[in-house]
Amino acid sequence: MYELPNDSFETTTELYANIVQSLEHMTEGESNLIANLANTSSVLYHCLRDVNWAGSYLFDGTELVLGPFHGKPACIRIAMGRGVCGWAAAEQRTVLVPNVAEFPGHIACDAVSRSEIVVPLVKNNELIGVIDVDSPLLDRFSDDDARGLEQIAALLMSRLTL
Ligand code: SME
Repeated sequence: MYELPNDSFETTTELYANIVQSLEHMTEGESNLIANLANTSSVLYHCLRDVNWAGSYLFDGTELVLGPFHGKPACIRIAMGRGVCGWAAAEQRTVLVPNVAEFPGHIACDAVSRSEIVVPLVKNNELIGVIDVDSPLLDRFSDDDARGLEQIAALLMSRLTL
């Protein structure tokens, strides 16, 4: 049984350091991306405060297709460049959206989502997919969340053998 980090950390950076440590342990010696994304979704959903969806989309060579997640059922396919996920994937960079109502083309999967962060998964310049986290609060995510999720993305990509 794995221990989840609790939310008693003083800073977001400290919380992510512990999440990364847990995920290093959970993914050690495991190269299966689906399994690693499944546990990552669970850890993010349970360890981050005020989050209503945490999961992934995987690039199938044409578009993004829903991957492992925690939260309500979500839309299955997202074209490159569409929504926050498609934008982060097309640009291969982290996209932080303080208010989804103000993001042109935002795809509403869960009506309660108010802010969102999407981090690309890229290995050897090849797009693998994205990690997406949604919150019911406006302006929930900071640069510290971006840096923390980027560390998690880097860890997941290091476990992947192409
Ligand atoms: N809101 C995302 C779609 C995925 S859901 O949030 C799970 C977007 O605009 O790309």
